[in-house]
Order: sequence, then structure tokens, then C-alpha cells
Amino acid sequence: MAPSQDKDRVILFDTTLRDGEQSPGISLNAQEKLEIAQQLARLGVDVIEAGFPIASPGDFAAVQAIARGVEGPVIAGLARAFPEDINTAFAALKEAERLRIHTFISTSDIHIQHQMQNTRDDVRRMAREAVAHARSFCEDVEFSPMDATRSDVEFTAEIVQIAIEEGATTINIPDTVGYAVPHEYAAFLTRLYELVPGLRDVVVSVHCHDDLGLAVANSIAGVLAGARQVECAVNGIGERAGNAALEEIIMLIATRQAELGVHTGAVTQEIARTSRIVSRLTGYPVAPNKAIIGRNAFAHESGIHQDGVLKERSTFEIMDARAVGLDSNQLVLGKHSGRHALAQALAELGYEVSGPTLNQAFRRFKEIADKKKQVTAMDLEALLTDELREAAEEDGYTLEYFDVESSTRRPPHAKVGVRVPGGEVLEGSFGGDGPIDAIFHAINVATGVDARLREFRIGAVTGGQDALGETSIVVEVAGLSGSGQGVSTDIVEAAARGYVRALSNAVRRGRSEGEGAAVAGTP
Ligand code: KIV
Ligand code: ZN
Repeated sequence: MAPSQDKDRVILFDTTLRDGEQSPGISLNAQEKLEIAQQLARLGVDVIEAGFPIASPGDFAAVQAIARGVEGPVIAGLARAFPEDINTAFAALKEAERLRIHTFISTSDIHIQHQMQNTRDDVRRMAREAVAHARSFCEDVEFSPMDATRSDVEFTAEIVQIAIEEGATTINIPDTVGYAVPHEYAAFLTRLYELVPGLRDVVVSVHCHDDLGLAVANSIAGVLAGARQVECAVNGIGERAGNAALEEIIMLIATRQAELGVHTGAVTQEIARTSRIVSRLTGYPVAPNKAIIGRNAFAHESGIHQDGVLKERSTFEIMDARAVGLDSNQLVLGKHSGRHALAQALAELGYEVSGPTLNQAFRRFKEIADKKKQVTAMDLEALLTDELREAAEEDGYTLEYFDVESSTRRPPHAKVGVRVPGGEVLEGSFGGDGPIDAIFHAINVATGVDARLREFRIGAVTGGQDALGETSIVVEVAGLSGSGQGVSTDIVEAAARGYVRALSNAVRRGRSEGEGAAVAGTP
């Protein structure tokens, strides 16, 4: 059932790890997904859609790890309206404290005729059987008529009625292709409430895509029409132009609560950190002018604005940067801090780290503290994400050492050692056009993997000349992409780490897709 009985409480259903992960170039491994899910729990979302378990063994393993390891939110898994999908979703979710099966089938004629190549009668039967089957496993079942906003509203109502009769507890109305405009989306929901009185006894949910830039506006229009669950993704990532941005939904509801008359259970101060972790792990940067979490979202350039804010903040600011956690960059550790102080600082940031991971994080912290005047919360967060990734690479590739010789007279020459699956360290060397080009080729030589660089971004974790450098890399291996990130005070090392991880993720993805079932009709 709904996590809350409060009629004005909007349930936050986060789909970063399912719809968000379907963004091109994103390939998170199970450890990375678990880390994001733990942060989503700290942010206070009510439901985490952890993945689509039948899609691949990797998806299954990640959903299972989240179901086992994340406390607080309901953990949901997606399933098409097929018994095998639903069985697999339940198998992945069954150890969760609270679980939900989310099953869906398209109701638009375009999808019925061209994508599924069946009939409205098939949809009636499959929807009924799917919800009944999911309810045989658990009480919390969500049903979505996919492409609802391009469907005949009467037929959608019929299918929604069937889903409610079979025991669906949440009915989600997706604007799958991001086609709706707010008043039209609200009118669609209003008409469904008229046609299906039983909708008032279940939670109605909105799920909007951003193809026309209206995902958040449509979602809020849906809430005003009566919906009490919003499906969204951190930083607005997702299929094509993405999903409604979670941080925008939270802050819109928090800032305009009096007008909207609803609230959420989010811990808004965790927004900035959640955004940074998702951006770092997915390799999707956040635009500087992005609402709520862009680095300029609270910056004032014009003299008139600066003057106004200095006199009275509310002249040009409608939110406080502290409310979204954008002030969390205070100094937390000094050069002489010990292992215990590091463990405590990490615990304050929400990371319980011990054993070899703590030792490794401490070694990296000391290296950074030697080079940087101040080690901030954001540095620690970046460093730990980097270490957790390293620890998760048991079946993958890790950078053991590297060296680049370069002079003004000779092209740079790189030598690397890469630990390959099985534990052996293989060496490779290469002379390239520049140090980074040389090192990437040397990694290909060492691993024997023909990885092609597709995207390469460099950024700084914080400001200042001694800032930690952060790279975000996408490579392609045999037609499959993988992304990886690296953090170091030395930008060449950050690039090498990011490249090895991207290569590792692409190879792992190839293995997993080779083993997995082909999933047609994936939303
Ligand atoms: O966009 C969509 O229709 C979906 C459904 C599976 C809810 O993602
Ligand atoms: Zn979607």
C-alpha cells in the first residue's frame, strides 16, 4: 500500500536506477546502484524503482543487492505483463523489507498495432493476468498503461478498472513520449477519475518524460488533478530527454507548498549530494544553470541582483542554498587527521566504512592531504565514491600503476600495469600524441581490449588551484558502451582510472548481455 495515509503527502517514487539508467551511455554496476539507492534512502524518497530484473543478470543482481541492503523506502522492480517477468521481479525483490512489483502494458493503438502487434482484447487479458499474478506474490502492486496520454481515454479507463479489480494498489499514468501539455494531462486524469470511481481508493501516480521540456510541469498538473505519487529521476536523467527531475519536484513542492497544498517527506538538505553522486557515477554532468542544483542556481551575476541580495536575500532569491545542501563544502579534515577522524567524518557524510576499504580510503586521503591545503566534505565524498568503485571491481579491471615520460623533443610514452579478471597484472606501453592519448592506448595494449574513446570530460571537485580533478569517460567495446570516472589530484591518473573503469564496465556489460534474455518492448 501507499507508504503514507496522509492525503496531502506526495509519494516520491524515484526511478533513477530504472528509467534513469536507460539514458544512453549510462551503465552502472551493482555496487554503484547500491550506493545511489543508499543515498536516495537518506534523501527520504518513499519508493526506489531499483531496476528491471528480467533485462539482464546484472540488473537482477543490482535489484537483489538493493532489496537486501537498503532500509526505509519500498523497493520496486519493473516487469512487463508476462508471467516470467513478474516471477523474475519477485525473485529479485523478495528479501526487501517492503517490496513492490510494477507491471505495465501499452494501451495506445500505435503501440498495440505496431510495437506489440496484438489487439485490445490481448491487452485486456494480459493486464488482468499480470496484476493478478503480481498480487499472488505481494500486496503492493503498481500498474501502468504505457503511452497512456496517446491512448483512447475510454480504453485506458477500462484497463485501469481491470487492474484495480485485480488488486493493483497504485495506478500510474505515463506520458511515455513526453507529448502532453499540462492542462491536457490534468484533463486526462480528471476524466479517468470520472470513468473509474475506484481510482479514489488507490494511489494515482504521474510519470512524465521531458521531450518537450514539460515533465515537471505536467507532473505538478497531475498532482493538482489528484495524483499523490510522482515518478522522477535525480538530475532529470532518463530515456531520451529524461524524466521529471526529482530535485525540481521536491523543491517546487517545498517552495510553493501554500499554493499547491501538498508536501513530501524529503530531507531537502540531501539534494545536492544526491545530485553529485548520481552525476559522478553516471558520467552525466549537471548544466551550470540547471534549476536547484546547477552551480549557478544560487549565484547572482548582475550588480542590481547582488546589491539586492546583500540588502535582503528575498529580493532576488526564492530558496536558500542551505535548504538543498549546497553549503556542505566546509573544511572537515586537516593534514594530521588520523584514521579514526576519517572514519568519523565519513560516517557524518553517511558512509559506514571499515576494514580494507577504510585503509585504502585513508591512504588516498593522506596522499590528497599532502597536496591540498584543505580536505573538504566534497573531496571526501569524491574520494570515497572512487574507492568504493575500486573495491567493487573484483571481476573487472583495475589500474595498478602508470608512468608517462614526456619531453619537448619526443612524443609522450606511457607504461601501465592493469590487474585483469583472475588477478594477473599485465603491462602495456604506447607512444601517443599526448600523455592521455598514450595512456589510453597503453591500457588497451595491456588488457588486449579494443576500447574506443567516445566521451571524455574533465572537471574539478571543488574550486581552487589545488582542487581534486575528476574525469568522466565513455568508451565503446564491440558496440557496447561503458562509462567510468576517476578522481585524483593528478589529472592524468584521474583519466587513467576513469578509462580503465569505463573499459571494465563495457566488458562486463558485454558478458551480462550475452548471458541475459533479449528484452523486447522495453519502455
Ligand atoms: O515511460 C513509461 O511509460 C515507463 C513505464 C514503464 C512506466 O517508463
Ligand atoms: Zn518512462
